[in-house]
Amino acid sequence: MKKDTRILRAGGKVGDEQIIEAARILREGGTVAFPTETVYGLGADALNEKAVSRIFKAKGRPADNPLIVHVGSKERCMELARNIPEKALLLMDEFWPGPLTLIMERKSIVPDVTTGGLDTVALRMPENEIALELIRQSGKPIAAPSANLSGRPSPTTAEHVLSDLCGRIDAVVDGGEVSIGLESTVVDMTGDTPCILRPGKITKEELEACIGDVRIAYDDKVHPESEIVRSPGMKYTHYSPDSIVILVEGENDAVISRMKELISDFHSRGANVGLLLTDESKRILPVEMTYSLGEKDRPEQAAKNLFSGLRYLDERKADIIIVDGSFYPDGIGKAVFNRVRKAADMIIKV
Ligand code: TXA
Ligand code: MG
Repeated sequence: MKKDTRILRAGGKVGDEQIIEAARILREGGTVAFPTETVYGLGADALNEKAVSRIFKAKGRPADNPLIVHVGSKERCMELARNIPEKALLLMDEFWPGPLTLIMERKSIVPDVTTGGLDTVALRMPENEIALELIRQSGKPIAAPSANLSGRPSPTTAEHVLSDLCGRIDAVVDGGEVSIGLESTVVDMTGDTPCILRPGKITKEELEACIGDVRIAYDDKVHPESEIVRSPGMKYTHYSPDSIVILVEGENDAVISRMKELISDFHSRGANVGLLLTDESKRILPVEMTYSLGEKDRPEQAAKNLFSGLRYLDERKADIIIVDGSFYPDGIGKAVFNRVRKAADMIIKV
């Protein structure tokens, strides 16, 4: 499948020539990675079966794991979804463009390959000028999962995309580092009570302030393959680098002392240890190979740094990555814990 992956550098302005070129590739059925506010997505024309199947092939993604379709406006949803509930319209008004994906009944125009054969479709309008201009210029709804090889951490820069997908996709639009760093909140709108299938920046509390009761239907551990799950993506091992990941959760002092023990234990066995640490812990635990999750009480910094930190330490051939789980667990912190728990081979609570 060796392709010559083009790198297009875009500023996001209306009429940007690089974006026009990327849109042309999309219209012709190609695959283009592009930045959104959450993570980089790997896009293709959502209504073109062949184009969408190229996404699955490039990522090595299981065919039953459906894609999110990115739209440029609320109106565009009417063409793709039917029986759109009133609450979904309220959420669009409140949070779009933004990191919120809504699952609704699909119209038959959306092919099976895009929805993994489900009778629902996931829709979102991203809050990123490059993404929006690309959607506008292509004139198409754009199916786009995160632009990583299946099972790897989601990409937050164009370099991450290239390290996984160079030679496997037609182009990447480089728009610099994304602003959020974790994927969107996914909400199933098809039942009586809307249901969060994946946590993200937009929290249950924020959703409830807009539409009333919302349920949670995710847990933070990887499901066994055999289990039937609502969101097919939830059953696959996610976000994991090749290194062994150990998460230590708890209060700062207890986490630090357990991490000290683990570090000296692994060092004595000759392992190459990498640490993902809060700034507070970093001052106390000076190990050569560290990556900062940011300030302990600023979970939005952990959100932005988590995936790039896992990739950074993995690239430097850490045998073991120990993650400091003493950062603030609420707000977007909930989503950070969800992702890091899924990436972890072992979770230690102290
Ligand atoms: O922030 C994001 O959502 C990023 C950017 C690129 O927009 N995209 C993203 O896509 O994270 P992906 O494919 O990596 O994750 C989509 C998740 C998967 O867990 C998938 O199973 C779920 O959404 N999903 C998609 N369509 C669904 C549907 N019809 N029903 C239930 N779950 C669905
Ligand atoms: Mg993904």
